[in-house]
Amino acid sequence: MIQSITGTKDQFSPDIEKWQTLEEKARQIFELYSYSEIRTPLLEETSLFVRGIGTETGVVQKEMYTFDDKGGDSVTLRPEGTASVVRAYIQHHLHKQDPTTKLYYIGPMFRYERPQKGRLRQFHQIGAELFGPASPEADVEVITLLNQIIRSCGVTDFQLEINSLGSQKTRLAYLEKLKTYLQKYQNDFGEDDRRRIETNPLRVIDTKDSKVQDIVNEAPLILNHLDESDQKHWDRVQDCLSNLQINYQINPRIVRGLDYYQQTAFECVSQNLGSQSAFAGGGRYDGLVEELGGPVTPAVGFAIGMERLLLLMSDEIASKAKRRVYIAFLGDSTQSKAMEIAQKLRTYNMVSEMGYESKSFKSQLRRANRLGFSHVIIIGENELKENKVQIKDFETQEQVDCDIDKIIPFFMA
Ligand code: HAM
Repeated sequence: MIQSITGTKDQFSPDIEKWQTLEEKARQIFELYSYSEIRTPLLEETSLFVRGIGTETGVVQKEMYTFDDKGGDSVTLRPEGTASVVRAYIQHHLHKQDPTTKLYYIGPMFRYERPQKGRLRQFHQIGAELFGPASPEADVEVITLLNQIIRSCGVTDFQLEINSLGSQKTRLAYLEKLKTYLQKYQNDFGEDDRRRIETNPLRVIDTKDSKVQDIVNEAPLILNHLDESDQKHWDRVQDCLSNLQINYQINPRIVRGLDYYQQTAFECVSQNLGSQSAFAGGGRYDGLVEELGGPVTPAVGFAIGMERLLLLMSDEIASKAKRRVYIAFLGDSTQSKAMEIAQKLRTYNMVSEMGYESKSFKSQLRRANRLGFSHVIIIGENELKENKVQIKDFETQEQVDCDIDKIIPFFMA
């Protein structure tokens, strides 16, 4: 039997209802903040991600699904959404339409990682990218938006952690200090990290190597090396978050796994997720549009890992319309009436369902119960002669007679 590929999943009922609820809530909230949707291709030129995400990142070095297509071009299944959205922003000159562009996306991403709880090879993100403003208020609006989406899903038991990675200028001076510190211990590091000490020391802070954690924990922190304007930005972010009563914790060790971040960086983490505790992350990436060939454009954004947020959401959040009516009929003459009633209920926006052939009442009731219907309308030949049906409420187990023309008022009451 052919099975789905390791690290990928089929999604169907009942779980799909939680996915749909999350998507609907996110879309509604994006609209409140004037974001519009962008859908970019899953396949991009490999160089987009190499240049955008950074050659020394784990994503680019180990995790990309990259292959040559039949024309010999190197293409990659997108491992994240930001680089693609920036490419589209530049390609379609979106900056000319308005100095501020707010875009969101919902869709699959691909990373060749070792699958485990909350970590897949095809996973899904809900992401937002805000182009134009450089101000700390924009960072805060993006964080507020993220916070609102998470809370709208009934998830409140999580921490928002924030850090500043400084601007490009500050970073260069800091990286020299970090490099000098790490070089002292270079023999303790593995081959990859040793190379990164020279090429991209910030990545070493993010190392997965448990043997060097103590060294990394003692490394100088960028937060202690911010220049005046970075510090002003950082202070303002915190003031605005406090004003809006958004709880946050400063985590000076957040460096993020992608190279494009500067200034504000943040992650949402939950202790209820096991080792994959970060279920959303983002930050400011002012240099990326320029790096990919566009005009100088400050930008900030985030992405939520949908699988991880779904693990935190309760099943109840997805319970759909309360009135879901199954129609059970017995005898061929009742089937047309059952179809008529089902259709009528649907025109009144009620979910209704029936079988396609006459079966015993018992088996029809069993199916209705199994599918989670709240009520069953039972149509027998004798009742039909009197223009009546019976309505059973699965929750209370009550069963009442009802005139056929009173069915809609019964359910609308
Ligand atoms: P990221 O932190 O790499 O950021 O990914 C965002 C979220 O995607 C993570 O917090 C996690 O929940 C989820 N995620 C990542 N890898 C996996 C995986 N293998 N399986 C399941 N979930 C996963 C970005 O992707 C940036 N593009 C976010 C951003 C947007 N920054 C600015 N704008």
